[in-house]
Amino acid sequence: MTTWEQDALISPPIRPMGGPSEHPTVNQTATRRVRLGIMASGSGSNFEAIVQAIHSGQLNAEVAVLIYNNPTATVIERATRLGIPAICLDHRQFATRELLDQAIVGVLVSYQADWVVMAGWMRIVTPVLINAFPNRVLNIHPSLLPSFKGSRAIEQAFQSGVKITGCTVHHVVTEVDSGDIVMQAAVPVLDSDTLETLQARLQIQEHKIYPAAIAIAVGLGIL
Ligand code: GAR
Repeated sequence: MTTWEQDALISPPIRPMGGPSEHPTVNQTATRRVRLGIMASGSGSNFEAIVQAIHSGQLNAEVAVLIYNNPTATVIERATRLGIPAICLDHRQFATRELLDQAIVGVLVSYQADWVVMAGWMRIVTPVLINAFPNRVLNIHPSLLPSFKGSRAIEQAFQSGVKITGCTVHHVVTEVDSGDIVMQAAVPVLDSDTLETLQARLQIQEHKIYPAAIAIAVGLGIL
């Protein structure tokens, strides 16, 4: 693999948001570490990257709970292996998005989560969740936002013919994939790429930037 393929361009910290002064309930200097509530729907490789960043000391936080919405999602296997409490809230059991989000907020509050981290969460969230954690909900999206919002972003980019795509960590607002950007990484689209090879290189960058972006967003800075 060439240097060009290996080293995607990672944006510098653009605008740290949600630091300690905005959230005085989170004491950044005392013993209590920032508690993350992670939401995932699928494989959970970003979830695991965040947990590993905590284990390696790169991210001074703890994962309070994993919430997943699909009982067959393989993220549960990672949570079990990593010893993280995991709660399944199957979206099919809820009549509306708001009722699902109400249940999610209930779990997050009961596990004393300070920040919400959507890591491959494939459901649209509502103000019920967003307003319960103002400026404290993050998401990762597999494109260089504002390009290719919504579902199947990698496919959209691939089919559009762009030569550079990437991934974005951003704050979550009610408009899908539209909140303030915390960090991005650029990934070249190679002539030889298939959707699978492009996705694999994108995920390598996602795993690098998500822990770093969380550290910036919560006001810890990059270690
Ligand atoms: C990630 O690539 C993430 O960017 C994407 O889902 C994947 C989850 O992978 N998220 C979205 O498309 C959100 N719109 P993972 O389960 O292995 O972390």
